[in-house]
Amino acid sequence: MKTLKFYIQKAYKEKWAIGQINFSDWSQVRGIVQAAQNLKSPVILGTSEGESKFVGLQEAVAMRNAMRKKYSLPIFLNLDHGKTADYLKEAILAGYDMVHFDGSKLPLDENILISKKVVAFAKNKGVVVEGEVGRFGTDASRLYTEKFEINEENLTKIDEATKYVKAAKVNLLAVSIGNFHGLDVSGVSPKLRLKHLQEIQKAIGIPVVLHGGSGIRPEDIKEGIACGISKININTEVRLAFSQALRKTLEANKSEITPYKYLNESIAAAQAVVEEKMKEFGSENKI
Ligand code: 13P
Repeated sequence: MKTLKFYIQKAYKEKWAIGQINFSDWSQVRGIVQAAQNLKSPVILGTSEGESKFVGLQEAVAMRNAMRKKYSLPIFLNLDHGKTADYLKEAILAGYDMVHFDGSKLPLDENILISKKVVAFAKNKGVVVEGEVGRFGTDASRLYTEKFEINEENLTKIDEATKYVKAAKVNLLAVSIGNFHGLDVSGVSPKLRLKHLQEIQKAIGIPVVLHGGSGIRPEDIKEGIACGISKININTEVRLAFSQALRKTLEANKSEITPYKYLNESIAAAQAVVEEKMKEFGSENKI
């Protein structure tokens, strides 16, 4: 199987994006992988620190391995928004393909210092590292009840991103360009600052990661990819589809207690969202 580095470079050169889809249980993994199988798309399974603590690092690796073996697909695993080098080392030792160090709340020099340590450790093991400069300022577990306002001060600054990438030597950079985690339930889509993205990308010269992929308009996704986004993270839309289907199924079948019977609709709902995203990202038939 080709490496994650290979697929990231391929996406970057050919202008499409690989999806990172977060999960916290086996049923979600099944929906995600079935989508990848149907569309012949590479995929990154993602776990935040919280998700990985619920699933277990070893167990997440075992799930990836089981799916790779069963489907012979390029399925990778990323530790998303790791806050300490120690936890990322644990994930690397457990067998993750990629780690994301989120030092976005730290002073830039501290962010650089820890990122360098993570990169040094990861490089030895052939593991991909994503860094982050700029803040989206939200957490992925929330849905918004009112319009979410972006604080312009938190957008990624070009000079900081350039300094960071040069010093930390990460493989990819997560940026703040008007994106946020979660969905704005008032229906307002995040507006990506595409010109700003273009300038960042030109300055750093490495693939860009878009977090908060839920709720972003397909036109913005398309233009964003043209401007250098090579990886897009999705969590909320899959969680929402999975949970809504589960509520509906249980509500409609009040005496049903058999998980393998009531989870099928949720798996299918997660799969449908992931397929839609993979098509938008252009990762179909790229294995
Ligand atoms: P959403 O929950 O907005 O899809 O964002 C997911 C994400 O960026 C995970 O890192």
